Amino acid sequence: MNLILMGLPGAGKGTQAEKIVEAYKIPHISTGDMFREAMKKETPMGLEAKSYIDKGELVPDSVTNGIVRDRLAQADTEKGFLLDGFPRTLAQAEELDLILEGLGKKIDDVLNIHVESEVLIERLAGRIICRECGATYHKTNNPPKVEGTCDKCGSHDFYQREDDKPETVKNRLAVNIENSAPILEYYASQGVLHTIDGDRDIQSVFNDVKTIIDETN
Ligand code: AP5
Ligand code: MG
Repeated sequence: MNLILMGLPGAGKGTQAEKIVEAYKIPHISTGDMFREAMKKETPMGLEAKSYIDKGELVPDSVTNGIVRDRLAQADTEKGFLLDGFPRTLAQAEELDLILEGLGKKIDDVLNIHVESEVLIERLAGRIICRECGATYHKTNNPPKVEGTCDKCGSHDFYQREDDKPETVKNRLAVNIENSAPILEYYASQGVLHTIDGDRDIQSVFNDVKTIIDETN
């Protein structure tokens, strides 16, 4: 079960990924999370990524393809994986096919979560993340059950992402809109693209995701 989650910033990739991973027990491979981890540790790759991420630009393919290649070579991807936020350029999609060919694998489904830009701006402005375990919430759409306490780990320490500032969000959306159209065409021509209406409650979106995965895997 080799899956890709696509969608513009704030579409709900991370939110759906949490549910997919829990239901299907496959590893969640988020290039954004990997970059943020490297930024936190201030590794050379993290510092390079930060210079792009802070401006809402894409990290160069040469860096991004390398980390995905290394990650997909790890044994826990044997029974499947969920890519979140990769590929994000046509060149990345083509490189991914080469990587998978080398591993004797292929993509089964591309789940494209579609949400209009106006909704996305509001989602990103209200997103809060648990500093302890990384669980994602929204101040009004999806708040923790007990205000100020993480449902998953009980921590009271939440933060907002640096790149969720309104001025950065504008550029992130523009960059991602421009790059996503050719990738969607690429996967449509391979017959693996499924577009899901992401402007509904989280569980309804997941029900569609689940139906697609169960029908095709
Ligand atoms: P990344 O971390 O992947 O960010 P992104 O694509 O901008 O997406 P987000 O993580 O912001 O949104 P999401 O779709 O996961 O939404 P979420 O579930 O959190 O990448 C960050 C940066 O790293 C990029 O800008 C780039 O610089 C770099 N990068 C990463 N990958 C790269 C690549 N392949 N190539 C080059 N550069 C790369 O939900 C958002 C909010 O909405 C939350 O508050 C949530 O609670 C809420 N919400 C979710 N679903 C719903 C719903 N159905 N209804 C109401 N609210 C909802
Ligand atoms: Mg995310």
